[in-house]
Amino acid sequence: MDNVITDIDIVDNKESEACGVKISMNENTGKARKMYIESYGCQMNFSDSEIVTSVMKQNGFDTTSDYNEADVVFLNTCSIREKAEQTVRNRLNHFNAVKKKRPDMTIGILGCMAERLKEQLLEEEKIVDIVVGPDAYRDLPNLVQKSDEGQKAVNTFLSREETYADISPVRLNSNGVTAFISIMRGCDNMCSFCVVPFTRGRERSRDPQSIVKEAQELYNQGYKEVTLLGQNVDSYKWSEEQNNKARLESFEKKGTQFTIINFANLLEMVAKINPSLRVRFSTSHPKDITDEVLYTIKKHDNICKYIHLPAQSGSSRVLELMNRTYTREWYINRVDAIREILGTECGISSDMITGFCTETEEEHQETLTLMDYVKYDFSYMFFYSERPGTLAEKKLKDDIPLEIKKRRLAEVIERQQISALERNKLDVGKVHQILIEGTSKRSDDYLFGRNTANKVVIFPKEQYKKGQYVNVLVEDCTTATLTGKVVTQF
Ligand code: SAH
Ligand code: SF4
Ligand code: F3S
Repeated sequence: MDNVITDIDIVDNKESEACGVKISMNENTGKARKMYIESYGCQMNFSDSEIVTSVMKQNGFDTTSDYNEADVVFLNTCSIREKAEQTVRNRLNHFNAVKKKRPDMTIGILGCMAERLKEQLLEEEKIVDIVVGPDAYRDLPNLVQKSDEGQKAVNTFLSREETYADISPVRLNSNGVTAFISIMRGCDNMCSFCVVPFTRGRERSRDPQSIVKEAQELYNQGYKEVTLLGQNVDSYKWSEEQNNKARLESFEKKGTQFTIINFANLLEMVAKINPSLRVRFSTSHPKDITDEVLYTIKKHDNICKYIHLPAQSGSSRVLELMNRTYTREWYINRVDAIREILGTECGISSDMITGFCTETEEEHQETLTLMDYVKYDFSYMFFYSERPGTLAEKKLKDDIPLEIKKRRLAEVIERQQISALERNKLDVGKVHQILIEGTSKRSDDYLFGRNTANKVVIFPKEQYKKGQYVNVLVEDCTTATLTGKVVTQF
């Protein structure tokens, strides 16, 4: 899962004054009030910001990409590591300095850090006006109003049902080609290092019909790729009985048994929308990924051959302490199944944590040898950061000195670079189908897109355009990218 910390700018959209919506006015300008949002953390947070924007627009707010003209500033935050929270705190200090000059500006903290710290930032530290957890975004307009009236504006209620299924996200920073769709929320796994179950609550799956509808609408608007998001997509599960909803028309009810839609079924439903709509998904949990999912990926050309399968560690003892509920051998078995069913060209990536509680030098070596075995195309790599309230914080000692955590991390990164280059070299000399996502950062004369395995491919622009599929002959590579030229257009 991507944890790169990036700002989100909102595309200005003037459509908020539709009939029937409550217009929230700025008393000085006489215009609709404007909101600005920045997002931190994983793709799910970025996806949530699109829901937040939709809720606010429905309630008459306009949007802006310039916080200087915003009436309401939202930070959608991440708690996963201490550094993520520190980044948000620095940003809050900045916005509080801005607020000194513009006291009418409202600052709201959203997302995981809001959930974790609850009232603290409002009542004790007094650096925010509004606190809203990830399941309370429908309440945002009401909370803004409460804050306007000088009342306490906090809602960190975690729901067992909320999936925002009926809310059409307002696509932010969109390239018009690729989009994220949340298919579930929360996590029931309780990995001992992880704060997510506490900040996001219980796992719940979203109605498959609403997922297919959202994907179909994106396709109708010209999007060519959707990524289905969840902390553990393989445990996606929807049953009529469990969710007490009308029977899914496309699935048969067998006797008195209710049909269950699992992740493989959902993938297939989305893949069938159109063969030219690519389908990606993240994150797969090694304990839950099934052969049925792998065969479904194989069956549909438009389901991308790329699996993000975070290992976290290569040592069975450390994995047990992490409460990951699989062993090194189990993990290797799943990688072997991917290679056997989907072939060597299927991309595999990982998340790794170095210096977890009591990790020995030998156990760290086991992480390196696992990396040598799998040869990941890509990895997100971190040193362990103890999080308040987690099982590890309560039961285990964070006893690996920072410099050792960092040294082990450097070794893991070095190993990853070796395998990325090795994997990329295998792609040289081959033709890859690429979905063009936009202009390359390097030069306006080049475009970039991704192959099925999620690798970035750069090639001369010529007459080609964003959103097209092209076949590219890859001629060269670095650890991060493939370069080549178009050989066929579709
Ligand atoms: N649901 C995903 C992970 C989401 S969090 C999964 O199970 O794979 C993204 C990544 O952050 C994790 O995979 C883990 O590698 C890392 N991470 C989570 N908690 C951490 C911590 N306390 N210290 C360091 N890295 C952590
Ligand atoms: Fe955190 Fe584990 Fe859930 Fe991933 S599966 S979000 S690491 S508790
Ligand atoms: Fe995502 Fe960070 Fe929350 S990784 S789920 S935003 S703690």
